[in-house]
Amino acid sequence: MIRRATILDANDIFNIGDSIFDDFLPLSFIEEELKNENSFWFVAIEDNQTIGFIGARVYDNTDILDIAVKNEYRKKGIGSLLLEEILKIKCGFVTLEVRVHNINAIRLYEKHGFKTILKRPNYYSNGDDAYYMIKE
Ligand SMILES: CC(C)(COP(=O)(O)OP(=O)(O)OC[C@H]1O[C@@H](n2cnc3c(N)ncnc32)[C@H](O)[C@@H]1OP(=O)(O)O)[C@@H](O)C(=O)NCCC(=O)NCCS
Repeated sequence: MIRRATILDANDIFNIGDSIFDDFLPLSFIEEELKNENSFWFVAIEDNQTIGFIGARVYDNTDILDIAVKNEYRKKGIGSLLLEEILKIKCGFVTLEVRVHNINAIRLYEKHGFKTILKRPNYYSNGDDAYYMIKE
């Protein structure tokens, strides 16, 4: 099941993100996001637990901040379902950054019509480069 996240989901989102990414967003940032009316976060629930999330800011355009699915629940279409929630409410272009070596995420985005338009060198704190991807 996919549903809109509330402030009560902040800890679960943080715990999943923090276990997957080396440089995940601080809990306080996620709490502020969940209170922001222009931020749209969704969580995936299976087996009575949160197993994934996506967050995006929707202003004149839509910027996807992060998406993640717990390892044991991947490759079952959950990432696609989360992304589709943002595509339903999107405004203008949809943009995102992704590590150039993150083949799984790049394939997910390409499958949903995103195209790489430029590379951002040293975009991440560990020096990794990012692709900037866009869906019109
Ligand atoms: C990226 C991520 C969210 C995808 O979630 P998911 O639930 O596995 O995605 P889906 O099952 O919906 O897969 C959708 C498509 O993505 C691609 N894909 C996802 N995982 C893949 C893998 N291991 N190998 C190859 N392609 C993959 C495929 O094109 C797939 O479509 P298909 O099943 O029709 O072949 C997940 O791998 C993840 O959480 N990764 C770690 C966090 C991360 O890197 N987030 C992105 C930050 S920019």
